[in-house]
Amino acid sequence: MQTVLLGSSNSATVEFMIPEAGSYIMVDHHFANASQGAIGLISTDAKPESKDLEHHNLPASAAPSDPDTVQGKLNFESKCLACHSVGDGRKLGPVVAGVTKRRSDVWLTRWLKAPEKMLEADADAKAMLKEFNNLPMPNQSLSDVEIKQYIKYFHWIDAQPAGAVKASGAH
Ligand code: HEC
Repeated sequence: MQTVLLGSSNSATVEFMIPEAGSYIMVDHHFANASQGAIGLISTDAKPESKDLEHHNLPASAAPSDPDTVQGKLNFESKCLACHSVGDGRKLGPVVAGVTKRRSDVWLTRWLKAPEKMLEADADAKAMLKEFNNLPMPNQSLSDVEIKQYIKYFHWIDAQPAGAVKASGAH
C-alpha cells in the first residue's frame, strides 16, 4: 500500500490490481472530507457508459493526416501563433484561415521566404503592412521544405468546413 500526498490542485495517477470483484470505497485520509460526501466508489462490475464521454458539446476538431501537413501544423503552432490565429481573430498579424483564397502559392512562397523583400516591392504586401499598423512580419528564416509544409497546412485549413479549425494550440 502506498500513499500519495497531494496539495490543492495537485494530481497523481495510480495503478493497482483489484484481487476480488466488488465495490471498494475510496476516501482521502482527511476523514472530515468523507463526512461531507467526498467518497468515491470503485466498482469492478459497473460498465462504463457507452455514450460519448466527452462532456462538452463542441464537435471534435478535424486533424490532418498527411505528414507534411501535420508538420506544417506543428511548426505553425510553435512558431507563428504568437502573431497569427487560424480562425480566432486578429492578433499582430492576419487570421490565416482563407489565406490560400486571398493569395496564390507563388505569392505565399515568396512572402514566407522573404517578407522584407515583398514589403518593398509587392503592392498587396504593402497594403497589408499598412493594415497591420506598419508592423513588418519578421523574416522567420524558413527553409523551402518548411515553407511547402506551411502552405500545405494552409490549404488543408481552407478545405475544412468554415469555422471548423481554430487551432490555437489547445484544440
Ligand atoms: C512577430 C509577429 C509575426 C510572426 C512571429 C509571424 N508573423 Fe506572419 N505576419 C505578421 C504580420 C504583422 C503580417 C501582416 C503583414 C505585415 O504587417 O508585415 C503577417 C502576414 C503573414 C501572412 C500573409 C497573410 C495574408 O493575409 O496575406 C502569412 C501567410 C504569414 N504571415 C505567415 C506566417 C507564418 C507561417 C509564420 C510562422 C513561421 C508567421 N507568419 C510568423 C506577423 C508575424
